[in-house]
Amino acid sequence: MLDKIKELQKEIEEIAVKSAEELEELRIKYISKKGEVSRLMEDFRNVSPDQKKEVGQAINILKNFATEKIRVLKEGLEEQASDSKGLDLSLPGDPMKAGTRHPISIIKNEILEIFKRLGFVVSEGPEIEDDWHVFSALNFPEEHPARDMQDTFFIQRNPDILLRTHTSSVQVHDMETMKPPIRTVTPGRVFRNEAISYRAHCMFHQIEGLYIDEDVSFADLKQTLLYFAKELFGEKSEIRMRPSYFPFTEPSAEVDVSCSICGGKGCNVCKYTGWLEILGCGMVDPNVLEASGIDSKKYTGFAFGMGIERIAMLKFGVNDLRLYFENDVRFLNQFEAAN
Ligand code: PHE
Repeated sequence: MLDKIKELQKEIEEIAVKSAEELEELRIKYISKKGEVSRLMEDFRNVSPDQKKEVGQAINILKNFATEKIRVLKEGLEEQASDSKGLDLSLPGDPMKAGTRHPISIIKNEILEIFKRLGFVVSEGPEIEDDWHVFSALNFPEEHPARDMQDTFFIQRNPDILLRTHTSSVQVHDMETMKPPIRTVTPGRVFRNEAISYRAHCMFHQIEGLYIDEDVSFADLKQTLLYFAKELFGEKSEIRMRPSYFPFTEPSAEVDVSCSICGGKGCNVCKYTGWLEILGCGMVDPNVLEASGIDSKKYTGFAFGMGIERIAMLKFGVNDLRLYFENDVRFLNQFEAAN
């Protein structure tokens, strides 16, 4: 019996087929219910008990081998068929699914476009900065808490090298290298030593704006931001300004936009106030102009800054900021590039 098995094994090894019909015949011959392998199984009943183990194993191996061989041959034939006459070059190809833009990029581009229409140019700068560009040139007093280890990621001490905590640092570069009139918008990543939660992250994105020229006034700032709010959140949007404080602007204000979700009536997104805080702004402090070599008697300017994540959360109704950085395609797939 073992000889018979060996013989069959050899036969099957040598099988080569040209057509599906041939293969089907062989399949019937070897592994169908009435095939050779099944016949062996029937004969197995008559094998003496002391040989049962060995013969049984051999039959099993043969059966698996034959099934696998037929499967491989079948696959080969199918491939051949689709390679040659089954191939229709006029059929449309498999669609290549294009990725979608990241929601932060979508909103960033939308915001930049609005300011570009007003004549602002985009400027970018380094994420790793010195103390001067992030703090000193921006009128931060020596003991200001933002300079603290708790808030800022330092890379090196004395002289201090750090990850920028806001993109205002790029505005210092711009003031040092450009001559007024200056009109820039500055997108980029910023870093703060914050505990990560649904509303805060140690890394996020900002866009800041700077406008310096003769006779730039607070009215210009207000009108620019009103235009911006209407463009981004809709024609019906209104803004309100609340007095605030930043070392680099005087006077300073916090800007709220009327809640675009409830139209100002009050909902859980605006915490029933009808208003959403979206940015900080103010008139550039003369000390800041002078620190970068701009004559504060001749020129005035305004600046503003906003977090892109927060605005994207409002625009898209996203309620957890961490989703932006987890790279989960189920989240990311939901956003189509607007431009
Ligand atoms: N740099 C400020 C921040 O990061 C925002 C700001 C920019 C405020 C310009 C006023 C003027 O919070």
